[in-house]
Amino acid sequence: MKVAVIRRAHFNAAHRLHNPGWPDEKNREVFGLCNNPNWHGHNYELEVKVTGEIDPETGMVVDLGWLAGLIEREVERRFDHKNLNLDTPEFRQLNPTAENICVVIWNILRKQLPDQYDLHVRLYETPRNFVEYPA
Ligand code: NI
Repeated sequence: MKVAVIRRAHFNAAHRLHNPGWPDEKNREVFGLCNNPNWHGHNYELEVKVTGEIDPETGMVVDLGWLAGLIEREVERRFDHKNLNLDTPEFRQLNPTAENICVVIWNILRKQLPDQYDLHVRLYETPRNFVEYPA
């Protein structure tokens, strides 16, 4: 009997979406406001879903305090109030789209999560635009 446990988290970060191989005009066309050369920010909302069996001894799938601490240490401290392009090595070469940020967060958390759990990450870039990994 598998149950999903979900923790919500939040971070603010600046970014710029840009493909250095393209002319400025194409970058503006494809990335729109997110191509602004002087950066801009988003209020990212994160949902981390951990799925597994209920431990009969605790009645829990995973300790939510532990999960909250993991997300705070590994995601919030790393990205909150940062310029993703300049401040975080993860996005030096990788365009910090919601899709790429979501996959980066999944990879970071997956390494810290015991194998018996399934992991699913949802990232909101705006209240109406969000991505999920795995799809
Ligand atoms: Ni943006």
